Amino acid sequence: MRMLILGTAAGGGVPQWNCACAECAAARSEPSLRRRHASLAVESGPGRWYVINATPDIGEQIEECPPLHPGPARRATPVAGVILTDAELDHTLGIPRLREASGLEIVATGTVRAALSDGLRLDRVLAPYSGLSWTPLPETEPAALDGGPLEIQGIRVSGKRPRYAADLDPAGDAWVVALRVRDMRDGKVLVYAPALADWPDELDRALQDADCVFVDGTFWDDDEPRRSGFTERTSTQMGHLPITGPNGTAERLAALPAARRLYTHLNNTNPLVHPDHAGHRKLAEAGIEVAQDGALIEL
Ligand code: MLT
Ligand code: MN
Ligand code: ZN
Repeated sequence: MRMLILGTAAGGGVPQWNCACAECAAARSEPSLRRRHASLAVESGPGRWYVINATPDIGEQIEECPPLHPGPARRATPVAGVILTDAELDHTLGIPRLREASGLEIVATGTVRAALSDGLRLDRVLAPYSGLSWTPLPETEPAALDGGPLEIQGIRVSGKRPRYAADLDPAGDAWVVALRVRDMRDGKVLVYAPALADWPDELDRALQDADCVFVDGTFWDDDEPRRSGFTERTSTQMGHLPITGPNGTAERLAALPAARRLYTHLNNTNPLVHPDHAGHRKLAEAGIEVAQDGALIEL
């Protein structure tokens, strides 16, 4: 299984357009410090890729990634579709950017689909441009993606809703899933979980046989968002288990058997966005990596 890391930042990216903090300022003058919004492309077949979460950066992410470039026919694209782990704006605003497509397959839970249709009205807005075709994300058991050899399954993580969907009354409560991808040829398993408000037993079970695991690295510690002054809420209250501290995820991640264990979806307040921060060494000692934009992973 081959995958390409298209971005590793939480909502806003690094730099965030309205942020003058030291990390965002540094990323403005040093492009290697930039992080685009978190997204991962997975190769579903020769020259066919699914993008997990469509971020506001998706146009640039495709341009910066040669395997996703169009051709040889004028409008042939290797981007076969989009798989969504949730309906958050940083994971869905890229869908309208793909409206030049002749059609676009979106794989999502019924809850996420309803949020995008009834909350963002994406179906209606995009119908005159490019029809969206929806594929339900299988939850109870894995199902083949794109005819195989990959099979996918959504593992329910939490009922955390996007803020715009607070008053919606959609079908079900499959708001946030971890995406499990298994290669039927060799049994290799990827789990992509960029939003963890919770670490349910079902997720823990799905992680036990994974070879590569990406998890929510939005905040380093629970108090970080409050300390940064942009909210009164803790990381946990914002729907993101922090990396360190009493309900931190690092110990659980370190205990997993996966050969590759990575944090992604880093907020611009997270000290890990600085490559010299001591946290990188601490995590590396536990066998944990911080995902880097542009990296190719082959399982
Ligand atoms: C989140 O990860 O909690 C959301 O993407 C926040 C946001 O809307 O920016
Ligand atoms: Mn987010
Ligand atoms: Zn900043």
